[in-house]
Amino acid sequence: MKDILTELEDRRNDARLGGGQRRIDAQHGRGKLTARERIELLLDEDSFEEFDMFVSHRCTDFGMENQKPAGDGVVTGWGTINGRMVYVFSQDFTVFGGSLSETHAQKICKIMDMAIQNGAPVIGINDSGGARIQEGVASLAGYAEVFQRNVMASGVVPQISVIMGPCAGGAVYSPAMTDFIFMVKDTSYMFVTGPDVVKTVTNEVVTAEELGGASTHTKKSSVADGAFENDVEALAEVRRLVDFLPLNNREKPPVRPFFDEPGRLETSLDTLIPDNPNTPYDMKELITKVADEGDFYEIQEDYAKNIITGFIRLEGQTVGVVANQPMVLAGCLDIDSSRKAARFVRFCDCFEIPILTLVDVPGFLPGTSQEYGGVIKHGAKLLFAYGEATVPKVTVITRKAYGGAYDVMASKHLRGDFNYAWPTAEIAVMGAKGATEIIHRADLGDAEKIAAHAKDYEDRFANPFVAAERGFIDEVIMPQSTRRRVSRAFASLRNKKLKNPWKKHDNIPL
Ligand code: HXC
Repeated sequence: MKDILTELEDRRNDARLGGGQRRIDAQHGRGKLTARERIELLLDEDSFEEFDMFVSHRCTDFGMENQKPAGDGVVTGWGTINGRMVYVFSQDFTVFGGSLSETHAQKICKIMDMAIQNGAPVIGINDSGGARIQEGVASLAGYAEVFQRNVMASGVVPQISVIMGPCAGGAVYSPAMTDFIFMVKDTSYMFVTGPDVVKTVTNEVVTAEELGGASTHTKKSSVADGAFENDVEALAEVRRLVDFLPLNNREKPPVRPFFDEPGRLETSLDTLIPDNPNTPYDMKELITKVADEGDFYEIQEDYAKNIITGFIRLEGQTVGVVANQPMVLAGCLDIDSSRKAARFVRFCDCFEIPILTLVDVPGFLPGTSQEYGGVIKHGAKLLFAYGEATVPKVTVITRKAYGGAYDVMASKHLRGDFNYAWPTAEIAVMGAKGATEIIHRADLGDAEKIAAHAKDYEDRFANPFVAAERGFIDEVIMPQSTRRRVSRAFASLRNKKLKNPWKKHDNIPL
């Protein structure tokens, strides 16, 4: 009996070594942690339960039958984050470069199936040379099995991808179908074809970092939702994000203890809006002043900064925030910001996370680059996402809400539950100058007359009361009481029930 126990321990120790000490040292030498060290940091201490530690590949080509490391390049299992269950897989770059074989894929699929069945998020740590070259099509089949499960899990359990090394070729499409992608600066990259193929096909010379590094994907492509300095920071931030999310689409988000008075008044907000309507101010100040303990988890911070998306808590309950940012492009909507916010709104709606929308939007960005780029279709994504969302929706218009953008930003007409406006709100078809130049075109040569018309338009429309008179705004509120108002609004909506008509699925303008 003792011998058998010793053999188990020996086998476990062997499996824990992955591709061996030399490769572990090389991994550390690159500033990267190993697959197991990452899991240890991600999960609560001693909570990890491993599956399939002894699984090995079945390939007999290219001398592979003589190299059969236990675990086959991926560590899988489940554990807890602050006591809440998650499933995890972590690719082991020290074993065949973390490449995906048929059995490696089966291990990932096993935990994904369990996650869907048992209702817990899947966190995938990616560090892989892609398809296991020695296995050919068996490996491609393995990828497709994972892809299919990504689709099935979408909207059922949150899926989070952390890219901590190479992620290339078709392998990028599994993370791409998950809810959030995080990268590590300087040590991770994602691309469909690498720099060598790019050079051969297009003659472009580009480094891996330029082509698919963290900066590229968080600032230019928007493929990734955040980038962190190193593995340790990335994993700590994933833990922080998981704390905001429900475990699945049948559960409410977790309620945390809170130490911030829901009725807290913020008198400084009464002077947040500058006297000049064209002077910007920082919308993030409003978000952090409304949030419990000023805690804001921003998503896609470096992309389309004219709109802000992320999570806060109100009375300990998770709320998704979408807010125009007047500091960038005057807070207008454009292709990038519409896509960014639409995806965020849909995530919140999938997982029953209420949405707070803070509006200061002068309209859609005009111009040929926007029209040629399809702003009509991309803007419609956000409109559609808000219109279909059945979660509690509370909207606060702080200043401008002009034109179609007024409608889009969770207006009353898109089933906003509480639509508040500050006294500084201006709800109109467009700004006074633009409006005057159109409806008083005949007076364009007369500056005095035009100024008088503009003043008249401003007096009549640059306020929240025309909308409030029609009930499109439920109440004009004092800026200082925003936290109290929106907290009470969301509290009153906790039992909201709203169902869209039955359909197979909708046809959002993709
Ligand atoms: C098998 C692989 C491998 C792979 C790396 N290795 N990639 N083994 N299949 N795809 C092995 C190497 O042989 C090496 O083994 C170890 O992993 C580390 O690799 P190195 O090259 O020494 O490391 P590094 O210099 O850091 O380069 C990492 C790399 C490079 C950039 C990922 O290995 C690379 O380019 N690999 C091939 C990538 C690729 O073309 N993959 C297929 C993409 S197509 P030893 O024994 O020396 O430690 C694809 C299709 C998916 O993935 C389709 C889904 C639909």
